Amino acid sequence: MNISRGFLLTGAVYLLIGIALGGHMGASGDHSLAPVHAHINLLGFTLMTIFGLAYRLIPGLNAGWLGVAQFWLHQIGGLVLLVALYLLMSGTLPPETVGPVMPVAEGMVLLSAIFWLANLWRAAR
Ligand code: HEM
Ligand code: HEM
Repeated sequence: MNISRGFLLTGAVYLLIGIALGGHMGASGDHSLAPVHAHINLLGFTLMTIFGLAYRLIPGLNAGWLGVAQFWLHQIGGLVLLVALYLLMSGTLPPETVGPVMPVAEGMVLLSAIFWLANLWRAAR
């Protein structure tokens, strides 16, 4: 699979969503979802774009299973985390419902970061 293209394209989609939410916050004057907006832009757009560029610049990162595992852990963990954070902070779902989901999603994002480090250690010269 093309990990770089996957990260760059999904990062660009997160940027559009992040800008839309930022624009909505600016227009409405309600900044209560700022942490959601911040993490859509940072965990979504910024990190994924950095990952996407790195997988292009350091071709050795693509070899083996670490890159594929890192990609899917960040994609799934990040998406679940951001959706759960939105549902929580917008008041759509109560903390008792969303709470148990957060550590699982955070664990996936953390494991993705550990795989990222391991993959860099292995392939970045
Ligand atoms: C047209 C695009 C954007 C608009 C209209 C916008 C709007 C906003 C607004 C209204 C806030 C809340 C500020 C506050 O309550 O203090 C905010 C916070 C934030 N935005 Fe954006 N934003 C945009 C793009 C971005 C991008 C591209 C990034 C990162 C790559 C970003 C990162 C952040 C961060 C990290 C915060 C939280 C800052 C803090 O809590 O101190 N924003 N944005
Ligand atoms: C699993 C991953 C992450 C978790 C669980 C997490 C959690 C948090 C929490 C609890 C806050 C405080 C929010 C508040 O005061 O309302 C925060 C703020 C912040 N985080 Fe993260 N974070 C994560 C990843 C990241 C990443 C990858 C970046 C940057 C690339 C980042 C950048 C920021 C920034 C700039 C703020 C301050 C902006 C704000 O007040 O909303 N975070 N984060």
